[in-house]
Amino acid sequence: MDSPPAASPASDVPGAGGLMTPATHLERCATGIEGLDSILQGGIPRGNMVLVAGSVGTGKTTLSLEFLVRGAERGERSLFISVTESSTKLVQNLSTFEFFRQDLVNQGQLVFVDLPNLYLKLGLEREELSPEEIDILIRTIRDLVRSTGAKRLVLDSLTSVCYRIRRDEQIRDFMLRLGQELKEAGCTSLLVSEIGPQPGRYSLHGVEEAIVDGVVLLWNTRRMGDILRVLQIVKMRGTAHSRAQYVIELTPIGMLMAPHLKGGRSEGGP
Ligand SMILES: Nc1ncnc2c1ncn2[C@@H]1O[C@H](COP(=O)(O)OP(=O)(O)OP(=O)(O)O)[C@@H](O)[C@H]1O
Ligand SMILES: [Mg+2]
Repeated sequence: MDSPPAASPASDVPGAGGLMTPATHLERCATGIEGLDSILQGGIPRGNMVLVAGSVGTGKTTLSLEFLVRGAERGERSLFISVTESSTKLVQNLSTFEFFRQDLVNQGQLVFVDLPNLYLKLGLEREELSPEEIDILIRTIRDLVRSTGAKRLVLDSLTSVCYRIRRDEQIRDFMLRLGQELKEAGCTSLLVSEIGPQPGRYSLHGVEEAIVDGVVLLWNTRRMGDILRVLQIVKMRGTAHSRAQYVIELTPIGMLMAPHLKGGRSEGGP
């Protein structure tokens, strides 16, 4: 089951005297990644649009794909919209992980869509999309989600889409409208993003991180010559969560997490 049991209203709790605020739980979309679900108290609140932001090779695509595979295993139709890599190549890379299930792709539970092909089909060929073209893009993604009944979506990457939208106010509008459509469809989404050069920023334009419901940050750090991958949840609307740092390991059976022990010399941060 995805959701933790609903909490009783405070007035039902013996001795609470009605002073405690009722702790109502939002329905969760369990990522299926044990460590992540544990620090999110059950998973991502369903319908949230979450930025998976990080530097190169930190595991953004792998984490996002595992989220979809685990969802498809639970009977939730899962949709991967690829912008940067062809889905054929992606599936090839992914099939080196034991957690990947080709049968879910064959059954149509896990669906891959190449956005560049869609751009061509829709005639969106200009480098900078006009407001009308952005509108077409949103409606196309909405229709894809509706027609497939997708409950999980990954866009890899949002940065590549924003490259063709460019202006901050249009990026804001695109994301607000996309978020609204996905929420209405009960679809929980991960948007992969590069991080900007300014310290303390979790996205390239800065707009993205403000709009989304959650930010999962990944970065590389050096310790005694090794490069470790570190994960931290910066924000997640609708739930309490840990904001500690976790070292992640990409293993054949999926992503593993362990607390990032302080002490020792490590270099590099988000
Ligand atoms: N079968 C495998 N088992 C364990 N680790 C793997 C396996 N295949 C790839 N990896 C690791 O995953 C890394 C790639 O991770 P991933 O593509 O998810 O990162 P990313 O953050 O999306 O990178 P990019 O910034 O290039 O998009 C590889 O560099 C490798 O270290
Ligand atoms: Mg990637």
